[in-house]
Amino acid sequence: DGIGPEVLAEARKVLDAVDQRFGLGLSWDEALLGGAAIDATGHPLPPETLEKAKASGAILFGAIGGPQWDTLDRAIRPEKGLLGLRSEMQLFGNLRPALLYPQLAAASSLKPEIVAGLDILIVRELTGGIYFGEPRGIEERNGERVGFNTYIYSESEVRRIGRLAFELAAKRNGRLCSVDKANVLEATVLWREVMEELAPEYPQVELSHMYVDNAAMQLVRAPKQFDVLVTGNMFGDILSDAAAMLTGSIGMLPSAALNQSGFGMYEPCHGSAPDIAGQGKANPLAMILSAAMMLRYSFDCAEAADAIEAAVGVVLDQGLRTADIVADGDVAVSTSEMGDAVVKALAS
Ligand code: IPM
Ligand code: MG
Repeated sequence: DGIGPEVLAEARKVLDAVDQRFGLGLSWDEALLGGAAIDATGHPLPPETLEKAKASGAILFGAIGGPQWDTLDRAIRPEKGLLGLRSEMQLFGNLRPALLYPQLAAASSLKPEIVAGLDILIVRELTGGIYFGEPRGIEERNGERVGFNTYIYSESEVRRIGRLAFELAAKRNGRLCSVDKANVLEATVLWREVMEELAPEYPQVELSHMYVDNAAMQLVRAPKQFDVLVTGNMFGDILSDAAAMLTGSIGMLPSAALNQSGFGMYEPCHGSAPDIAGQGKANPLAMILSAAMMLRYSFDCAEAADAIEAAVGVVLDQGLRTADIVADGDVAVSTSEMGDAVVKALAS
């Protein structure tokens, strides 16, 4: 939906280019999700899409949602398609790296010295917590409407996201900060306990804890204190948007969502941006970098992934910028010009 198709088209251009250069032998199938799927089939996650996803080696996903579907019944909103796919494929481990390309230090809303060299990884639990907890709903009680949701995590759910985060921290700088609201919410008291129980198994990782309100503040105060952050579904949703802005634009941030066997779905952290859809204004780099993550994590093609990430560095060095990151002295380019430039940089 929205800018999804246009950024996905650029990622495909780039993948076709690395496919040729490295002889990867990629093959493609396409399927609808979200609003486009509702329009075509009446369902945000059509059975055919789920079948194709299950038959594939990885999913590369654009974006969903838009005002034209906001008034639909909650059961068939576009977001249900995305949440349904995450849940059906058990993609519990969401990796959202916030990495500042040095060329974009001035594009951040924070002072360059606060963000220069920023490289943090948010590990968000993606298939549990308040997003999926039951009971949930809106109903009439004592003559008025009440809305309610359930914030629930089992210890096995916390343990599996915890293990993933510890393993990733061990491969990075060895610092893991678990974010919770254990001063108020029991579900996160358990979260903290389970993280503590895991810690002795990873002596190379230093575990700390932070309340989510403080974490939000620290992310904009001194973000470089973090290496890996691990948190639940809703806190991760919020903190990853904040972290995105540290890097200059949410249009720069890729993500991976992995299940227990390493199967992954790759998507930009940004949404469908309906206000700029179809105008060639969208930044395709988050989508292109998501494709690089797909090559790295699902297809074990680190060389091709490195090549894409390096090519993104090259186009930024050349001063090419889409509208979201453009400043004085830069060369403003459209969505497809940016994709073409990355392809060209790959060839050189
Ligand atoms: C995200 C998005 C989704 C979420 C929406 C579109 C359902 O905000 O991936 O961060 O809340 O998980
Ligand atoms: Mg979000």
